[in-house]
Amino acid sequence: TILPHIRGEAQRERLVCLDSVDSTNNYAKALAVNGGADGTAIVADEQTGGRGRLGRSFLSPKGKGIYLTLLYRPDIPPARAVTLTAYAAVAVCDGIEAAAGVRPGVKWTNDIVLGGRKLSGILTEMSVEGETGALQYIIAGIGLNVNHAPEDFPPEVRDMATSLAMQLGHPVARGRLCACVINALEDMYAAWLTGGGDYWERYREGCLTLGRTVRLIRGTRTEEAFAEDIDRDFGLIVRHPD
Ligand code: BTN
Repeated sequence: TILPHIRGEAQRERLVCLDSVDSTNNYAKALAVNGGADGTAIVADEQTGGRGRLGRSFLSPKGKGIYLTLLYRPDIPPARAVTLTAYAAVAVCDGIEAAAGVRPGVKWTNDIVLGGRKLSGILTEMSVEGETGALQYIIAGIGLNVNHAPEDFPPEVRDMATSLAMQLGHPVARGRLCACVINALEDMYAAWLTGGGDYWERYREGCLTLGRTVRLIRGTRTEEAFAEDIDRDFGLIVRHPD
């Protein structure tokens, strides 16, 4: 159900669809080590060990969400890689808008939010060769809640999470949506490699964090500040009370 909606022949050839996997990010890493091609998309109907940021898990029930990882092999210095996640966040919003007609916002740095709740998250990982410092690969893992009902979320995140179906009031075809996200990511990657496109402008426009008071957590210290702007590296510029 994904293939017919994928735009380019090249991307159609670099699509791996799995019924069940521990984590599409783990699968992508193994593929990378074994020579997997730049731009390969891995998508699974279920993850049994989905991983989130900061060592959290990402519950990935069968047939409900989109669990997708892109494998990239750009020839760039590792320091340049940090902006990829923010570009990907804009692309995921583009894909959702193309397929479902609603545009989510982004909570800095890369939580995709609709109706005030988290709809999607991104976990980017990369490998750098220890000896040379060369970038070996980057994988961008995207988890998107599509047809979840509230009870499909674990109790501890139920009040903070949402799905497209919950927001729209009807189920959404995952195949086409997934293809739209992959197509948007393909455009994003081409723009990111050349530094082109208006991703920074659109990230800033869609960033829900700006104009709000935020809590800055540094180790055990928490401090409040006002979120003013996004810098060119997608860093959050804050104003402290002093
Ligand atoms: C987060 O918000 O904490 C990031 C969640 C990322 C989840 C996706 S699902 C596809 C890919 N495989 C994983 O194990 N994690 C990412």
